[in-house]
Amino acid sequence: MADEVLFDVNERVATITLNRPDKLNAIDAALGSQLIESLVEVRNNDDIRAAVITGAGRAFCAGADLTQGDGPAASAGPAGHFETSQRIRFDEFDAKKPLIAAINGHALGGGFEIALICDLRIGADNARARLGLPEITLGFFPLAGGPMRLPRAIPQAYANEMLFLGRRLDMQTALQWGLISRLVPPDELLPTAQEMAAQIAGYAPIAVRALKELTYAQTDMTLDQANRFGASLRWIVGQTADSKEGPRAFAEGRQPEFKGE
Ligand code: COA
Repeated sequence: MADEVLFDVNERVATITLNRPDKLNAIDAALGSQLIESLVEVRNNDDIRAAVITGAGRAFCAGADLTQGDGPAASAGPAGHFETSQRIRFDEFDAKKPLIAAINGHALGGGFEIALICDLRIGADNARARLGLPEITLGFFPLAGGPMRLPRAIPQAYANEMLFLGRRLDMQTALQWGLISRLVPPDELLPTAQEMAAQIAGYAPIAVRALKELTYAQTDMTLDQANRFGASLRWIVGQTADSKEGPRAFAEGRQPEFKGE
């Protein structure tokens, strides 16, 4: 099978490159399953602390492959739910470690939803790139997290323009709407994302993991539940050697050495 997803690890940072450039990295079965394999590796490999997802060529990812089978809507069951028993879906899989989307070009449909599973998103200053969820214009609607994650990521009024109109945003608008946090020149995109990932990879991994858990789990909780859950996780993190090392290093005027303990 061709490598439709490239996977590279350098200094505790994994780089996942969607690699079907002649089809704008559209998601066929091979690309989908190789993306999942990559995310599983990020979660299971203790030497990886953060990952960057990007696309080869001029697109990040143009979404589900519209030319295969009966199209993406056909994989929904009679009740409109995807069959999840046979394979894991990327939007349901928790990699447990921070993911950074380096959006180099078009991110549409499932491609946009791959960016939505990421904790941080940055974009290349590429005038042709468009971000959007065109599914409603195709006769169905997005189901790999779009209607669920997007209104949690940006204000509902903006989310609904994307969901109900299928509006495709340019990068400047994506920045204004808070979908991406930075816009950088195209040749600085990957190094910037990898630098951000390396920064996170240098922090205490148990604290980073607990922070990711709290940040997303709390959206489904009352404030009181969130405070209690946060306090429990913080207490556990407070038992780690790394949580003592940070303040000690500060007091001694040196850089901390986190060991993941
Ligand atoms: N599925 C399958 N193939 C796709 C694809 C998709 N989602 N998106 C792009 N491609 C293919 C094109 O068919 C073309 O292949 P070809 O060279 O063999 O003909 C190649 O990628 C390049 O795309 P092209 O349309 O020529 O590039 P463009 O710059 O003119 O337009 C887009 C780029 C992204 C605006 C346009 O391809 C598009 O709208 N794609 C569909 C996006 C979409 O609706 N995704 C949601 C799916 S649910």
